[in-house]
Amino acid sequence: MPTVLITGANRGLGLEFVRSFAAEGWRVHACARNVEKAKSVKALEGDVVCHKLDVTNGLKVASLARSLAEEPLDLLINNAGIYGSRADFGETDFDDWATTLSVNTLAPLRMAERFVGMLEKGERKTIVNISSRMGSIASTGTGGSYAYRSSKAALNMVTKGLSADLGPKGFTVVSFHPGWVQTDMGGEEADIPSDESIVGMRKVIAGLTTEDNGKFFNYDGSEIDW
Ligand SMILES: NC(=O)c1ccc[n+]([C@@H]2O[C@H](COP(=O)([O-])OP(=O)(O)OC[C@H]3O[C@@H](n4cnc5c(N)ncnc54)[C@H](OP(=O)(O)O)[C@@H]3O)[C@@H](O)[C@H]2O)c1
Repeated sequence: MPTVLITGANRGLGLEFVRSFAAEGWRVHACARNVEKAKSVKALEGDVVCHKLDVTNGLKVASLARSLAEEPLDLLINNAGIYGSRADFGETDFDDWATTLSVNTLAPLRMAERFVGMLEKGERKTIVNISSRMGSIASTGTGGSYAYRSSKAALNMVTKGLSADLGPKGFTVVSFHPGWVQTDMGGEEADIPSDESIVGMRKVIAGLTTEDNGKFFNYDGSEIDW
C-alpha cells in the first residue's frame, strides 16, 4: 500500500486525514508537535506511526527525514497551520506575523526539501500544501488577517515554485483550500465538518495527474484563482 506523511496530525483536518488514509490501509506517518497528547491518533487502527515534530524546528525535520530516508513516500501533506493574530490594521503584531510565516510558509518548503528523496522513491511523487482561499489574491476584497492571508499567499507561491522545480522529475505539487471547516481553527459556525472536507480532498488527490502540477484546488475539485 502507498505511504503518506501528514503534519499537524493530532487534531482537526490532520487527524481526519490520518483516520481516512489509515482506514484504507495506507501506511501513515502522523506528525504532531505534542505527540504525548495525540491520543486520538494513537487510538486509530491501522498502519499509523506517530512522530514528534514541530515543523518550525529545522533540526528535528532533518532528523526525522534521515531516520525515514530508506522508505518510499508517495504523498506529503503539509497540513500544520496557525491562523496568527486577528488584529486589525494599525495593531499588527509583527512577531506573531513572523511566527505565522514560519509555520504556514517556511515549514512546507523545508518539509519538501528534506523529504524529496523519499518522495522520489515513491510512485505518486505528490506534495499537497493545505493553503486557504484567504491566500488567494484574486478572491480578496477585504482587509485584515494580514498574517494568515500573506502566509497562505506565499505558500501558494511555494507551491508554484516547487511545481516548476520538481515537475520535470515527475512530481505533482498542488495547493488546496479545504473549505471553511468545523475545526478549532474554523470554529463551530464553519460550513462543513472535517470528514466532508477530507472526502472531497481525497477524491481530488486520488485523481491527480502530472497535468495538475501547480494548481490550486478547492476541496470539491474546482480550481481557485491565485
Ligand atoms: N478549518 C478551516 O476552515 C480551514 C480553512 C482553510 C485552510 N485551513 C488550513 O487547514 C490546515 C489545518 O487546519 P485545521 O482547521 O485542522 O486547524 P487546527 O484544528 O487548528 O489544527 C492545526 C494543526 O496544526 C498543528 N500545528 C500548528 N503549529 C504547528 C507546528 N509548529 N508544528 C507542528 N504542528 C503544528 C496543530 O498542532 P497543535 O495541536 O500542537 O497546536 C494542529 O494539529 C491549516 O493549514 C489551516 O490553515 C483550515
